[in-house]
This record gives sequence, C-alpha cells and structure tokens, in this order.
Amino acid sequence: MRQSVFVTGATNGTGFAIASRFAKEGYDVFIGSRTEENACVAAKQISDAYGVFAKGYGMKVYDEADVIRIFDDIRGMGYKLNTLVLNAANLGIRQQFFDVSMEEFMDVIHTNMGWNFMLSRQAAIQMKENGGGAIVFINSNTAYRAIPDRIAYSASKSGALGMMRAMALDLGRYNIRVNAVLPGMIKTERWLTNYNDCRNAPSNYTPLGDIAEFEDIADAAWYLGSAQSRNVTGTELVVDGGNMIQLYPIIPEEREHMSFCDKGSETDNGATGKSSSRS
Ligand SMILES: NC(=O)c1ccc[n+]([C@@H]2O[C@H](COP(=O)([O-])OP(=O)(O)OC[C@H]3O[C@@H](n4cnc5c(N)ncnc54)[C@H](OP(=O)(O)O)[C@@H]3O)[C@@H](O)[C@H]2O)c1
Repeated sequence: MRQSVFVTGATNGTGFAIASRFAKEGYDVFIGSRTEENACVAAKQISDAYGVFAKGYGMKVYDEADVIRIFDDIRGMGYKLNTLVLNAANLGIRQQFFDVSMEEFMDVIHTNMGWNFMLSRQAAIQMKENGGGAIVFINSNTAYRAIPDRIAYSASKSGALGMMRAMALDLGRYNIRVNAVLPGMIKTERWLTNYNDCRNAPSNYTPLGDIAEFEDIADAAWYLGSAQSRNVTGTELVVDGGNMIQLYPIIPEEREHMSFCDKGSETDNGATGKSSSRS
C-alpha cells in the first residue's frame, strides 16, 4: 500500500506547501478545502508536479458525518491513511472582548478544536489498523503569547496543544504519534501585501532576522509526520526564528534604523501593527 497524507486547508500557502513536501517524498496526497473545486485544482497541480496520486475533497466544517464520508472514500480506494496534517484554521480575526458574539467565539473553538478532533479520530481508526501513523497539528506561538482581539483563536490554539498531548498519550500504544508545529509569523499572501513598515517589524525583532517561509513550516510538518521522527510524540516544534525565546524583543543595532508600525494598519494576524508583532 502506498504512503498517504491528508492535509486540511491545502489549496494554497502553508497547506499547499505541506502537501507538496509529502508529494515530493512520494506520498499520495489528499487535499481538504471548504471549496471542492479549489481542492481538485490543487490536487491536480500536485499530481502533475510530483507524479503521485492526489485527490481533493470539499469539506463541511465541524460535521462528523462529512468527515466519516471522506475517510470512507479514502478507505474505499484501498488506502489507510499514514499521516494527517491539521493545517486549516479559523483565524478569528478582530474578535474584540466586549463585542464578540458567542456564536463567533464558538465557531473558532469548534473549527480549531472540535473539527480537528473529529478528523484525528477518523484518521486514527485507519492508522490503528495500519499499525501506526502520525498526526501533526499546525498550531501557533499564539498558544503561549497572546495577540490583541484574537481571544478565541489564542484559546483554541492553547486548547489544541492540550488535546495534542492527550491524544499522544491515548494513541501511543497504537504507534500513532501526535505532535504540533508552532509557527510564528509566516510570509503569507496577506503578509506580503501588508503595509511595508508593519511587514518589517517582526523580522527586526526576530533573532534569526526573518519570519518563516511556507517551506519552513512544511519541513517541520514533514519531520513530525514522517518516519524521521519515529520516536517523537507529544512534542511542540516552534518555527519562529527564535521569537518565543525572548523575554522582550532585542533589536540588533544594524536593524535599528528600520521603522515600525506607527498607525493602525493591519498586520497578517489582523491586529493593529502598533500593538502586535506576532501571529
Ligand atoms: N500565517 C501566520 O502568520 C500563522 C502564524 C502562526 C500560525 N499559523 C497557523 O498556520 C496554519 C496555516 O496558516 P495560514 O496563515 O497559511 O492559514 P490561512 O491561509 O488563513 O488558512 C489556511 C486554510 O484554512 C482554511 N480556512 C480558513 N478559514 C477557515 C475557517 N473559518 N474554517 C475552516 N477553514 C478555514 C482555508 O482553506 P479553504 O478556504 O480551502 O477551506 C485556508 O486556506 C493555521 O493553522 C494557522 O493558525 C499561521
């Protein structure tokens, strides 16, 4: 049986890079998206580029029957999934403490925790039959460091880390490993089209001098999702150029001349540039 991976939210950006990384290593790839058409286009691009089998799935968020339908389809094609990468996320941008409705708040929690649990459980059923597998959460350093107006997002990412550890414990006996990648800022399309000074700010603060490319996150997901990390479970791999290790941001002298956000323009994480430098 060929090795296979399912990546959620993988039609572009980080998710597409992760799916491509596994395809490059010869894995067959299943792509999840809320838009089936986009998933199919991305699957064809990966199949054409790497010569592997790839299939796209339109997904209904937080719908267990839909998750079962997808995993039944994967099984029906003769696969038992080897790796699940949980990349899709509700970013819960601009959710102000006094204004956010409970519906909006719970939407983030349901997506980033409940839906990921549903997906993990169906994947683990196949992995258990297979004698093992790997589940990788694409989490965030906001699980530890809060950013403004993202209360449900931060809560969901912290909660997902607890869930990751609990799953690692419960599934270890079946040789199913569960780990998390914690990106800091990633150079997404949103990020690159942002107000220039804001774009520079986190890079100035970053000990390694720059924030992550999609491929940096994909490499980390590949490590945790493949046999390279076969004795690793319940861990967090932070990919943020060293931002998390600082008590407070140190700006090297040579970067001091660069200006920082001075007005309320939006950064990648949807917060105002003045008050935030991370996502
Ligand atoms: N960007 C950053 O700086 C950063 C920093 C730290 C952590 N992260 C984490 O890294 C992962 C990828 O980040 P990204 O910035 O590349 O993500 P993104 O493009 O905002 O989202 C990834 C995919 O998730 C799906 N998605 C978006 N909103 C959703 C919603 N409300 N419900 C369900 N699915 C939704 C979308 O796929 P479809 O439209 O195809 O469904 C989207 O392409 C996420 O887990 C994010 O939390 C990102």
